[in-house]
Amino acid sequence: MINIAAPVIDSEERRAVDEVIESGMLAQGPKVAELEKNWAEYCGVKHALAVNSGTAAIHCALYAAGVKEGDEVITTPYSFIATINPILMLGARPVLVDIDEETFNIDVSKIEAAITEKTKAIVPVDLYGQPCDWAELQEIAKKHDLKIIEDACQAIGAEYKGIKAGALGDFGCFSLYATKNIMCGEGGVVTTNSDEAAAAIRSFRQHGMVAPYEYADLGYNYRMSDLHGAIAVEQLRKVDRFTAQRQRNASLLNEALAGVKGIELPRVADNRSHVYHQYTILLDEGISRDEFVAKLREKGVGAGVYYPKPLHAYPHIAKLGYEAGDFPVAEDLAARVVSLPVHPKVTDEDIEIIAAAVKESVNG
Ligand SMILES: Cc1ncc(COP(=O)(O)O)c(C=O)c1O
Repeated sequence: MINIAAPVIDSEERRAVDEVIESGMLAQGPKVAELEKNWAEYCGVKHALAVNSGTAAIHCALYAAGVKEGDEVITTPYSFIATINPILMLGARPVLVDIDEETFNIDVSKIEAAITEKTKAIVPVDLYGQPCDWAELQEIAKKHDLKIIEDACQAIGAEYKGIKAGALGDFGCFSLYATKNIMCGEGGVVTTNSDEAAAAIRSFRQHGMVAPYEYADLGYNYRMSDLHGAIAVEQLRKVDRFTAQRQRNASLLNEALAGVKGIELPRVADNRSHVYHQYTILLDEGISRDEFVAKLREKGVGAGVYYPKPLHAYPHIAKLGYEAGDFPVAEDLAARVVSLPVHPKVTDEDIEIIAAAVKESVNG
């Protein structure tokens, strides 16, 4: 089976973990500090703070942005559930804005209509590894004095006009979950240029602590261990190589699938680079996705569906007052997306197998 995701773990990661075990200091320590320094440099920001998941990263960033009970936060109805849950965890209200059908990202032209006196922040998602329309987003945020918390969990290394994901908004949030472009099993990172926000995140990830056994506010245990940090340090050294391999596989898939009837290939909008966390095609209406995915799997191609439903289809979001029909683009695309393997372990031979399987499966 050509799996949809496969972590690339080599001797460097194993050696780094061994070193931490030998040191006897397994909790947050020098490896996490090294990761934070290297990550900030890589993204071109002042601070990077490591935490133990992408979800925690978003929670920390929203907290540091000052999002509180009763505030509104604008975000997309089409993402992983962890984009929206931290907004609810702070007692704020997610206000959804439909997506753009070309990029699957929030449709920035619809954001201003959703802004109210209560709006505090925007959480755009660089879905599948492609940045949003940042020029427009930054202008809206400036005009309405809103914070932008970039959910870049799928977009390490992606760029908008040469600026890296993580450096585009007030905060950037990353995931190091096992299937991500770089990973350490479970982990996350928040980036920011603000000293004050960095201090708030350091405190929030450690029970609200501001000095030994002094707690200024509610906080959590969101610390990353040095075992995870050690893997992440090695993975970050390899990120540009992994990205190039994903981009190469994506362009080989584009060539092999060009002109195939019944599918649309992923598109990359102007001024941005796509790091292909997912290579996502769209099936034409009327083609059964379940059958298509089952046929691909029979042929040894582990296709995935990210994501089968828009966020407002889940009960805890629907109960905020949303219903089917509210976000027609997200609803339509959610019913037709299929992601194909594109990760660095996919070989040229695999590309041929994937392309042949797609062609056979889409045509009956
Ligand atoms: C877009 C998006 N947001 C948030 C998350 C949450 O990250 P994690 O699983 O590390 O908590 C993920 C990844 O799973 C994601 O893909």
